[in-house]
Amino acid sequence: MTTEFEGFRAVVTGGGSGIGRRTAEELLARGAAVAVLDLDPSTAPDGAHPIRCDVADDDAVRSAVAAAAARLGGIDGLVNNAGIGAQGTVEDGDLDEWRTVFEINVLGIVRVTRAALGHLRESKAAAVVNTCSIAATAGLPRRALYSASKGAVESLTRAMAADHVREGIRFNCVNPGTVDTPWVRRLLDAATDPEAEAEALRRRQPTGRLVSATEVAGAICYLLGPAAAATTGTSLAVDGGMSGLRLPPQR
Ligand SMILES: NC(=O)c1ccc[n+]([C@@H]2O[C@H](COP(=O)([O-])OP(=O)(O)OC[C@H]3O[C@@H](n4cnc5c(N)ncnc54)[C@H](O)[C@@H]3O)[C@@H](O)[C@H]2O)c1
Repeated sequence: MTTEFEGFRAVVTGGGSGIGRRTAEELLARGAAVAVLDLDPSTAPDGAHPIRCDVADDDAVRSAVAAAAARLGGIDGLVNNAGIGAQGTVEDGDLDEWRTVFEINVLGIVRVTRAALGHLRESKAAAVVNTCSIAATAGLPRRALYSASKGAVESLTRAMAADHVREGIRFNCVNPGTVDTPWVRRLLDAATDPEAEAEALRRRQPTGRLVSATEVAGAICYLLGPAAAATTGTSLAVDGGMSGLRLPPQR
């Protein structure tokens, strides 16, 4: 157990599963007090304050963030991680599906951040980390809607960093490649040939394997914590080399 986050009060959205859950566990292990906001908070890690919240619902977000601040005694860090996926080209999905994904992946961040800003302004070590994606920076097939939403997350992160740097609030995002989480396992289960699909995802990343939720959680904790006190307005790729490397095809 380290004490890097002793006295630090963090809110993690989507902390009931996958990347968010591992991040909440890691923050707790490093000494933070953590509130998990999730549609289903029953699977939040032991030691976290579980709070039911749909980030697409204005009233729910306001009361959940107020409840988190009351239970933690304030908010120093916010991890905007809740998100959903979507598959297809620009021709796919009715516009209601497009609106729903933006409501959660983009406006969810707007809502939770707005609700938390007053508390963050009171903190001496305020930081926000948004979970973005490789889909923000690489053109991936059949990910038009998801990519558009994550591109917005990356731009919003930089704009918020500029708006709030002089208030002492840092904003950064992590851009994971394909991470071994329940979300990706659901996608694989739905594929016609799950093993072939899993192999294709592994081979897409130069490291030849999926990223682990622990590796993304470590990057989020770095950006949220004191070691990154001079870092704001950046995106940190945790993608097995996918965004930056060009290897010859494997024989
Ligand atoms: N898994 C990947 O390969 C991958 C890659 C890049 C980025 N991401 C991003 O990471 C984040 C987490 O993904 P994951 O793989 O851990 O997914 P996951 O499905 O395992 O967990 C997502 C969590 O978010 C919660 N959630 C969903 N909609 C919500 C809402 N409206 N309000 C509150 N909570 C809600 C779910 O209940 C769940 O607990 C997402 O933003 C996703 O876009 C994932």
